[in-house]
Amino acid sequence: MNAPQQNASGSASHSTTFFLLATAAGIGLSIALILFGGGAPSGSVPSTTGDLAKAQRLQKVGSVTLRAEQKDRPLANGEAVFKAQCAACHASGISGAPVFGNAAEWGPRLGQGFEALVQAALHGKGAMSPQSGGQFSDLEIARGVAYMANAGGGKFDEPEPAQSN
Ligand code: HEC
Repeated sequence: MNAPQQNASGSASHSTTFFLLATAAGIGLSIALILFGGGAPSGSVPSTTGDLAKAQRLQKVGSVTLRAEQKDRPLANGEAVFKAQCAACHASGISGAPVFGNAAEWGPRLGQGFEALVQAALHGKGAMSPQSGGQFSDLEIARGVAYMANAGGGKFDEPEPAQSN
């Protein structure tokens, strides 16, 4: 008498367990799909307005995020930044600054990578005062770094804003 009842409840409980497992698996799969679908590669077009606003405030250069505060004029290119702010020391090598176009002086510095060079320029290094916070945005300073480093034998892309307007 009891045996059939136990069987019945046992099988009912198995169905319930199976249902829960199937549901859990389904949820897990959905999460996996969301994660993979949402993990867009960097550099892709931001999908939401929030992302877009954030992308406009923060500029990615490699893994370095630069403040690119909007100046009230078109973005300066690396050459313009160099002439206005860097040439004073880097044209002639004042205080031991690596001279513009001198591959022998720039070569050993290029190996540390673009991001390290940008950080040195922004925050200062040795006799070089911090170059951030003046008339140029950090993104523009980074463009100046690319311009100068490339003249010294580097092959860096001049960083672009995430969105041109
Ligand atoms: C006041 C003089 C001065 C000015 C202005 C100046 N620099 Fe420099 N810069 C130096 C000196 C000196 C060094 C060498 C620092 C050291 O290695 O101790 C240097 C080194 C560098 C380096 C190499 C850093 C490294 O880690 O090897 C970069 C990149 C650089 N400057 C970029 C710039 C850029 C871009 C500007 C303009 C926005 C600029 N500098 C303006 C003096 C200056």
